[in-house]
Amino acid sequence: MNVLVIGSGGREHAIVHKMKQDGIKKIYCAPGNAGIEELAACVPIKSDDVRGLVDFALEKKIYLTIVGPELSLQAGIVDAFTERGLTIFGPTRQAAMLETSKSFAKKLLKKYGIPTPQFEVFDTSADAIDYAGTISYPAVIKADGIAAGKGVIIAEDSSQAIAAIKDIMDNRVFGDAGKVVLIEEFMEGAESSYFVLSNERGFLPLGSARDYKRLRDHDDGPNTGGMGSISPSDKLTPELEEKVVKKIVYPLMEALEKEGIVYRGVLYAGLMIVDDEPYVLEFNARFGDPETQALLPRVEGEMVGILTDSAKGRMFSDRLSLRQDVSVCVVMASKGYPASPQTDNVIEGLKDAIGKDIFIFHAGTRNEKGIIKTAGGRVLGVTALGESMKAAREKAYRAIGSIVFEGSQFRSDIGL
Ligand code: GLY
Repeated sequence: MNVLVIGSGGREHAIVHKMKQDGIKKIYCAPGNAGIEELAACVPIKSDDVRGLVDFALEKKIYLTIVGPELSLQAGIVDAFTERGLTIFGPTRQAAMLETSKSFAKKLLKKYGIPTPQFEVFDTSADAIDYAGTISYPAVIKADGIAAGKGVIIAEDSSQAIAAIKDIMDNRVFGDAGKVVLIEEFMEGAESSYFVLSNERGFLPLGSARDYKRLRDHDDGPNTGGMGSISPSDKLTPELEEKVVKKIVYPLMEALEKEGIVYRGVLYAGLMIVDDEPYVLEFNARFGDPETQALLPRVEGEMVGILTDSAKGRMFSDRLSLRQDVSVCVVMASKGYPASPQTDNVIEGLKDAIGKDIFIFHAGTRNEKGIIKTAGGRVLGVTALGESMKAAREKAYRAIGSIVFEGSQFRSDIGL
């Protein structure tokens, strides 16, 4: 059996690592990174080069392709693979609109009474600006499309809201993602991520995680792609998890069925918990990064069969069980990240960091004649499992202590 994983980040390294644990003989990754290279054959095809990826999968007779990034989904990779009879884990372009169009997702939630903050949708900046003058603050301004995690702005007053609307809609700082804007009620509470595997036959709960979006300790500094994660989420008690399944996942599955949308793949709900009630902030149509780096090391047993069931629209043949241990993933980022990351610095000490239940997932790295160098903003996701958060944290931060590259930055409060 052979598997192709699409993407080049820490999430994809965690997926490749899991496939290796599952005993997959031949793993390919497009395009991969220096860490993935140790486990898989990396091929230099970009994640959104749909045609190149289809041709490659056909040539290598790939049994299962697993999609990492949302850009590949938006480019229609699942539709293209399916047309050619290839098995691929992920939603079609239409189903992925749960992530790629926030207005589509929010209207669906509203129609089916699934809890989510109040919102309005605008397709002209003039209308959005008029509305911004009538609401209370803080309020949330969101670009409709995908904007590398940067398209959500919390406005403290109407002048900030208007500036955000102009940036998104008139100046198109996020390109076409800003054709439409949502203005949403601000909710204060505890954020968590919840993952299920899905297809038209049902769903399989995968578990929870929490990511740390800001650059610096105590949620200070600019937003990033994620500076760390923990799994399970400390904010999602088993009772709350039951509520999430009952009030969000089941109704969503019914809504998708009624709308005639077949959703195969992983569905990741970004939740806000307020007064012990979960609300959907957003959906993502793929595994989270860096949540996956914390979540997947907890999965016991084989995963490839379950992913194949989801991709083929079969009844899930197995359940997923997770280790009781908690997991902590601390991201090491380059100097200057997120604004202007410095790259090409040598990374030392990777081998010294390895230990039992410690996983060094690479993101922005490259191998230059055997020397591992930084090649992006987020460089490594140093993950450790432990019986308690304290134990997992100690292991992760001990591993980080061995790894050196110029200007590295990481938060010291992941899991605290
Ligand atoms: N951790 C946020 C994301 O994957 O979008």
